[in-house]
Parts: sequence; C-alpha cells; structure tokens
Amino acid sequence: MEIQGKIVIVTGASSGIGLATAKLLGQNGAKVALVARSKEELEQISEEIPDSLIIVADMTIESDIKKMIQETKNHYGRIDILINNAGQGYYAPIEKINIEKYHQIIELNLIGPLIAMQEVIPIMKSQGSGTIINISSGTALMYLPNMAAYSSSKRALAGMTLTAREELKIDNIVVSVVYPYITNTNFGKNALRESVVNMTQREVPQGDAPELVAQKILEGIQTGEAEIFLREWNKKQ
Ligand SMILES: NC(=O)c1ccc[n+]([C@@H]2O[C@H](COP(=O)([O-])OP(=O)(O)OC[C@H]3O[C@@H](n4cnc5c(N)ncnc54)[C@H](OP(=O)(O)O)[C@@H]3O)[C@@H](O)[C@H]2O)c1
Repeated sequence: MEIQGKIVIVTGASSGIGLATAKLLGQNGAKVALVARSKEELEQISEEIPDSLIIVADMTIESDIKKMIQETKNHYGRIDILINNAGQGYYAPIEKINIEKYHQIIELNLIGPLIAMQEVIPIMKSQGSGTIINISSGTALMYLPNMAAYSSSKRALAGMTLTAREELKIDNIVVSVVYPYITNTNFGKNALRESVVNMTQREVPQGDAPELVAQKILEGIQTGEAEIFLREWNKKQ
C-alpha cells in the first residue's frame, strides 16, 4: 500500500519504535492518529507531524481501544492502516513468573491488538482495503531464559497475525507481523522484572535504532510482506 494521504493509527506513539514510525509515516504524507497514555508527550510529538490526531488510550482497556478506533474514524472519515505497536517486556524465569503480571502482559501485548483488529476489520471491509501491522519480537522465535512470559505473548501475536492474514485476504486486507531485534528505546527500562536467573555474562549485543525498525515497518506496508525480520538469522531459529 502507498503511504501518501493514508490514515494510520500508531499505538505506543509516545516513545521508541512507535514514535519513530509515526514521524516517518508523517514525513511520507500519512495522517497519523498518535495513541498512548502519555498526553503531554503526544502533544509535543503532534506538533512535528502535520494533520496528526492525539488519542489518549490505555491499550489494556477495551473501551479505550474501541474509542481509539471510533475517534480516528470520526475525525478522518476512514482508517487505512493500523499499527499495533504498544507493548511491554517482562523478564522472569518460569519458576518466578507472577501470574497477575503475566495477565497484564497478555492484556497489553496480545488482547489489546486483537480487540483493535476486531474493531478496525469491519471498517476496512466496508472500505474495500486496509493494512494491519502487528509488532511482535525476535524473541518470539527464540527460547531465551527469563523471556518466556514476554516471548509467549509475542509468539501468540505472530500466530494470530498470520491467521488473520489468511482470513482477510479475500477482503483485500493485508496483515503482517514485524519481528524487531534489540532496539535502543525505553523498552528495557519500562519492562517488568523478577529476579532473573541463568543470565550469561556476555555483553548485550548492539541494538538497532528505532528509526531502522520504522523504516522496515514502512517497507512492510509498501510491500505487504507477511513477516518482516530485522535479522535474517532470526527466521531460522
Ligand atoms: N526495544 C526492543 O528491544 C524491542 C524488541 C522487539 C520488540 N519490541 C516491541 O516493540 C514495541 C515498542 O516498544 P519500544 O521498544 O518502542 O518500547 P518503549 O520505548 O517502552 O515504548 C512503548 C510504547 O508503548 C506504550 N504503552 C505501554 N503500555 C501502554 C498501555 N497500557 N496503553 C497504551 N500504550 C502503552 C508507551 O506509551 P505510554 O507509556 O505513554 O502509554 C510507549 O509509547 C513493543 O510492542 C515491544 O514489545 C521492542
């Protein structure tokens, strides 16, 4: 899908990958609905993106997600692209995963995107086209100690995405999943964590700039590819 003039929702637009993506899509002529909980950040970002719309929403609250879709539709008259990017990490060994926190992670990383898809699909069907991009994680395809809670949420999101892709082909709605590698954002700082085990003493590999992930997301929208990887080797895990 071409970007120029398209109406895009970016969740988690106040920071990191979502922020870089919103800016890049705005620079390429899209009109962007910026979604997050942090109103002040969104207000600042909105000044840099012409014709953008601010929507303060918590992606774990069903009524907020429904409001996000309705407000965007009411404001712009249509929705061409949904980018489900808001998410949070949780580092804990299996033995220590706190079930309440795991519920929170699943609500945000999996059920929020599902509700947003359910709300936007009828709109895209009535328009005759649409693109949905779900941001998973390279960890979804790996078995990293301490990452089970997070990676399982992202693995489920990837599976749901690729199933939606098959279901919605007939409606000219393209659904794709992006697997970012380590990216230099506030993700680590914002992650939930328990005392982790089996951490190797290796240095953490160099991460990617969020602008690189944003570029891959843009290319994914343009090509309609099913799966977009930041590391080729990630496919083979
Ligand atoms: N950074 C990495 O290494 C990496 C790697 C692979 C995948 N990812 C994925 O990439 C996506 C973006 O992460 P990031 O690296 O950009 O992290 P980040 O800098 O922490 O940004 C997370 C974004 O999600 C929003 N958010 C968090 N909880 C929310 C909630 N309940 N409701 C609405 N918005 C919420 C935050 O905004 P507010 O706090 O203002 O609500 C923020 O804009 C996530 O899905 C993450 O899992 C990241």
